[in-house]
Amino acid sequence: MQVGNPANLPLFHVGSVPVYGDTVLAPMTGYSDVPYRALCRAYGSAMNYTEFVPVETLLGKRSRNRFWMRLDKKPDEHPIIFQIFGNDAQRLLQAAQTILDLEPDIIDVNMGCSTRKVSGRGAGVGMMPQPELVAQTFSLLTKYLPVPVTGKIRLGWDADQRNFLQIGQIMVENGAALIAMHGRTKTQKYGGKADWDAIAQLKQAVPVPVIGNGDVQAPADIDRMKTHTGCDAVMIGRAAVGNPWIFARRDKADLTFADVATAVRLHLGEMVAYYGDWQGLVTFRKHFKQYMSGYAMPEKQLACLLRTEDVDEFLQVLAEMEASTALATGQ
Ligand SMILES: Cc1cc2nc3c(=O)[nH]c(=O)nc-3n(C[C@H](O)[C@H](O)[C@H](O)COP(=O)(O)O)c2cc1C
Repeated sequence: MQVGNPANLPLFHVGSVPVYGDTVLAPMTGYSDVPYRALCRAYGSAMNYTEFVPVETLLGKRSRNRFWMRLDKKPDEHPIIFQIFGNDAQRLLQAAQTILDLEPDIIDVNMGCSTRKVSGRGAGVGMMPQPELVAQTFSLLTKYLPVPVTGKIRLGWDADQRNFLQIGQIMVENGAALIAMHGRTKTQKYGGKADWDAIAQLKQAVPVPVIGNGDVQAPADIDRMKTHTGCDAVMIGRAAVGNPWIFARRDKADLTFADVATAVRLHLGEMVAYYGDWQGLVTFRKHFKQYMSGYAMPEKQLACLLRTEDVDEFLQVLAEMEASTALATGQ
């Protein structure tokens, strides 16, 4: 299934890269791997980001560890944005150069991660209090990389240092092709309300596309954020977990269990194809819990689905649940 822009015209460009829709899956470490990104694309996400990767890994030896695997992609996954993080412009450039052979369409610098481990050493949102570092990073990357360079930011460090307009200007002056902004400060982490007025201010202030992010929980919020902020696209993170239909602007409450079971089978199929049977099924559990949220399922079957290490058994019990739900609801 490919949902989206019926006229098939780009809605905006990131540098020279066309984007054909207005919803984008957020980078989410632990979630936005190859299988989940494939599923979200199938339901309508117009562009995907990888999970963020530290420059230290990219400057080390290439191996199939969990960090390098974040840069795996399907051959037809376009546009794909590789997201990297670090606290040194030269090293960010070197790291980006080492991954060009993996053919990213776009390179993104993470300037939004609020965890102490990242921001505390001046990377992620820790870059925002350092305007010179931002200028140097974008000037170097845009000068030497053959692909567009973008950044994902927050409002700033805290309520007293909301410098997103200054950082946005600096990014643009130094060649950034797009800014994605999560409407919270570092100290807010994920608490409080995302500030959509700030996203509107940024959009007014910069000539490049802006992606708005934060507190999009249901399909209606997508157009609400677009209208409120004028942003070019809306980025959806937590609300898309166990709910890829949000990219198709379908409310989960309107779905039948059969719709959910279809997505579960598709997603699990992608997981197994990518990770193998056991790893694929076990890694899928956290997604499955989210698919099931909102459904009152027989406890015994649900427990079996969350415990089994056998893909055939999983599919068999899921089919039984589907059949009994269809019987009970007449669907
Ligand atoms: C589990 C998790 C992992 C995340 N990992 C990343 C990441 O690797 N890179 C990044 O830029 N943002 C990351 N984020 C932030 C999201 O991209 C997004 O900005 C945030 O969740 C707010 O959007 P939402 O309200 O739609 O969830 C992560 C968020 C969550 C919940």
